Amino acid sequence: MTNGNDEQMGQDPLRATAILVCNVGSGREIDVTTQITGIGEILMDVFESGSATVGGAPFNVAFQAHQLLSASGRGRGDMVSAVGEDDWGRHILAAVKDASISTEYIAVSAKHPTGIATVFVGEGEAGFEILPDAAWDFLGGDAATEALAKKTNAVAFGSLAQRLPTSGKMIREFVAKVDGHRLFDVNLRQNTTDKKKNYSAEVVDESCKVSTIVKTNEVELEEISEMLGFAATDAALGTEDRLWGHMEQLLKRYGLYAVAVTRGGKGAMLMTEGERVRLEDSKLKKDEIHPVGAGDAFSAGLLYSLTQGLPLSTSARLADKLASWVTRYESSTPKLTEEIKRELRAIEEGEAG
Ligand SMILES: Nc1ncnc2c1ncn2[C@@H]1O[C@H](COP(=O)(O)OP(=O)(O)O)[C@@H](O)[C@H]1O
Ligand SMILES: [Mg+2]
Repeated sequence: MTNGNDEQMGQDPLRATAILVCNVGSGREIDVTTQITGIGEILMDVFESGSATVGGAPFNVAFQAHQLLSASGRGRGDMVSAVGEDDWGRHILAAVKDASISTEYIAVSAKHPTGIATVFVGEGEAGFEILPDAAWDFLGGDAATEALAKKTNAVAFGSLAQRLPTSGKMIREFVAKVDGHRLFDVNLRQNTTDKKKNYSAEVVDESCKVSTIVKTNEVELEEISEMLGFAATDAALGTEDRLWGHMEQLLKRYGLYAVAVTRGGKGAMLMTEGERVRLEDSKLKKDEIHPVGAGDAFSAGLLYSLTQGLPLSTSARLADKLASWVTRYESSTPKLTEEIKRELRAIEEGEAG
């Protein structure tokens, strides 16, 4: 994959640094200025405790990808979205800037407010209530966004920001332009109180069509299998065999490179046409974990690893390590510590060395 960024390298200090320090002597062929992009919702996660953090699954992916890539001088993560002309919008833009992620692709809407998700964390799983008609429901495109699609090496998107046709169409068009992995992390979001579903079978189907990787959690895989009308698997099969069966149908129907299914503390399963990877359970106690953002970190870890040329099994281990580390924090976007950086590097170098 090429990224066609040459004309910008002299202007952008981050890129220039990346060229100098990247990949010395590893012998693997990588994109030296990898661009990973999230597209869709950026919003405020407001918790029952009253605390609020910047979130939105594709933003969390962009944030984690940016940390991973900039820590190793290999590139950056950015986000395509929109906020309102309001206090939360200003707060989000400041946080984005603070993380050294570009605000160039985050539009400011005079018509629609900044998105808000109320998060209810129950038994290890999160519930949500998502404000309708947020700024990111009405994404348009512009020349800068168009240019970003062309230089993006891997993109992550989900179903929530496609709940209205305007953003749905724009997101899928953006994704289809990306020459690289296109990861659809389905993230089905049903409102906890009014039970409204922020997704549909059509959005899931159209999204799978433009993807190379589909990531779901265990519950979502069951639900989309039903929505997409997959053949029922033998009821006598054990859970894992049933999951493999659904994954295979998903992989084949859409001609995907990979299907990744995370199972909370029970591990993860990944399938490509020629390979199956099964990760053992990560066994963190339920009452000690903060699940918001874990799946997003998994997606970011996967895209980071694959763009750096790591094999699927190593990519899965790195993604799982990052995701289970995120569950130790209430924030969905904790800053990488020196310890987790060392642990991730060990996984990566174990492969390279
Ligand atoms: N209880 C847990 N213990 C350890 N790791 C966890 C736990 N819950 C989640 N994770 C990590 O986060 C990943 C994604 O979590 P999961 O809940 O399956 O996805 P999602 O957040 O998309 O629902 C898991 O594969 C694992 O790496
Ligand atoms: Mg998820």
